Amino acid sequence: MLNKRRLQSILPVGRLGDVFRYYNRIGSTNEVALEMAQTGAQDGTLVIADEQTAGRGRAGRTWSTPAGSAVAMSLVLKPENLAAKSAGELTVMGALAVVEALEAHGVAAKIKWPNDVLLSGGKAAGVLVENGWMEDKLLYTVMGIGINVHAASIQNLEQFDFPAACLEDELTERVDRTELIKDVLTVLDERYAQLGSGSHMTAWNDKMAYRGESVTVQGAGMNSTGKLVGVSENGQLRLQLVTGEVLQIGVGGHNLRPVDKI
Ligand code: BTN
Repeated sequence: MLNKRRLQSILPVGRLGDVFRYYNRIGSTNEVALEMAQTGAQDGTLVIADEQTAGRGRAGRTWSTPAGSAVAMSLVLKPENLAAKSAGELTVMGALAVVEALEAHGVAAKIKWPNDVLLSGGKAAGVLVENGWMEDKLLYTVMGIGINVHAASIQNLEQFDFPAACLEDELTERVDRTELIKDVLTVLDERYAQLGSGSHMTAWNDKMAYRGESVTVQGAGMNSTGKLVGVSENGQLRLQLVTGEVLQIGVGGHNLRPVDKI
C-alpha cells in the first residue's frame, strides 16, 4: 500500500500538491477531485488513492486500480486566463508527463492519440480530463492519471479494447510508486508553466505512436483508414487518405487502431 506520510514528504512538487488528500480505497479520485474543484479547491490540489473501486476511463469506460499495484491520481487545475482554444493542451499534458517521467527511468513510451500511453505496444497508462466551463471560460480542470505499475494492475481483461501493459514488465528493478508519482508531478509542473505556448503540441507530435503508419479511426459515425500524419495545432488528428485528402479528426469519441491490430 502507498504510505501517506511518504507521499506527503515529496509534496508539494512546484505548485502541485500543496493541498493533498490520500485514500487507501476510494471510488474514483476524479470524482473526489471534481467535487473539490466545484467547491473552491485551489489550483494544484492533488488526490491520490491506492485502490479505486469505481475508477473512470474515457468514453464512459471503467478503469480498474487494484490495491497496491498502480498509480491513480487526480489534479485540480485552475489555469488563469487560458484561451478556450488552448484547453486541448490540458488533455495531452498528462500523457506527456507520464511519457517523459518514464523516459527518465530509461523506458521508451509513446502516445496513442489522443492520450493513451503505450509501452511495447500495450496500453500502460490513461488520462481522463474533465473540464468545468462557464460559457467559454474554463473554471477548472480535473486531470486524472492512471498508470499500470505492477502486473497485478492488469485485471478484468474484458474491460480493455486494446492490449494492456504495465511498467514493471519493462524494468528489471522494482518500481517505487511514490517516486514515480514525484517524477510525473515534476514534469507536469514544468509543462503546466508552458500551457498556452503550443510546446505541448510539438512534443505530442514527437511522441505519437504509429506516426507515418496506417491506422484506422472509428467511432462517432466514422470509419476511415489512412496514414497518420500527426496532430494539428488544435489537437486534431491528421489522417491522410489514399486519395491524398487529409482529414482532421477531433478527439470526441474516436478510437484509433494500427491497421495490423484490427
Ligand atoms: C482512459 O480511459 O484511458 C483514462 C483512464 C484514466 C484513469 C484515471 S485513474 C485516476 C483517475 N480517477 C479515475 O476515476 N480515472 C482517472
